[in-house]
Amino acid sequence: MNIILLGPPGAGKGTQAQRLVERHGMKQLSTGDMLRAAVKAQTPVGLKAKAVMEAGELVSDEIVSALIGDELDAMPEGQGAIFDGYPRTAPQAESLGELLASRGKKLDHVIELDVNEDALVERITGRYTCASCGKGYHDTFEKPAVEGTCDKCGGHEFKRRPDDNEETVRTRMAEYRAKTAPILPIYEVQGIVARVDGMADMDEVTAAIEAILGKR
Ligand code: AP5
Ligand code: MG
Repeated sequence: MNIILLGPPGAGKGTQAQRLVERHGMKQLSTGDMLRAAVKAQTPVGLKAKAVMEAGELVSDEIVSALIGDELDAMPEGQGAIFDGYPRTAPQAESLGELLASRGKKLDHVIELDVNEDALVERITGRYTCASCGKGYHDTFEKPAVEGTCDKCGGHEFKRRPDDNEETVRTRMAEYRAKTAPILPIYEVQGIVARVDGMADMDEVTAAIEAILGKR
């Protein structure tokens, strides 16, 4: 099964994708994570993307679609993909259709996380991850069981994203409204869009997604 998790910054795409990976062995394909890895490794893609990401704007369609194509090629036969943060523009949606079709795959569900943007600023500015394994946490909503120790790997170092400040978040939200939300109708005509209340408790969001995946 291949699904898209769609929603503005902080909607919970990454959080829910990690849960699907753990429960179903699906592969999370987050272009944001791929780009952050490229920035860290100072690859040519990373050097191009760094300033764009720090400004909260979108990296070029060609770059992100190429990253997704490479990841799809590296996946074992039969493993499902969760597209997290991709596609984000109409050209990316078109590229994804071609990338999947040329590999004999198709999209099963587009799950839109429906959220209140004002509440998202708090979510994003409180977010951090384990520096070793990448498990996500939040200052208020998801603390490690033992303060300063990662629940998943026992690591003690945590990090925050450079684009998780209020000003950049507002730009990221504006980009979502202008370029990403308008791609929904492409999938609506295919009858594969489902909406989930992304403001609900994390476990409730997970349950709602599971219910959708169980439908087909
Ligand atoms: P990307 O990394 O995709 O960031 P984003 O879309 O802005 O989304 P986030 O990762 O901020 O939010 P999320 O929905 O994953 O929320 P999370 O689960 O962490 O992109 C970053 C940048 O890279 C872009 O700005 C762009 O420059 C570039 N880029 C990436 N992809 C691109 C593309 N395709 N094209 C062009 N450019 C691209 O949750 C947030 C916090 O809230 C967490 O702390 C979590 O614990 C908490 N939380 C989650 N769910 C709940 C809940 N139900 N209740 C309470 N708290 C919750
Ligand atoms: Mg994310």
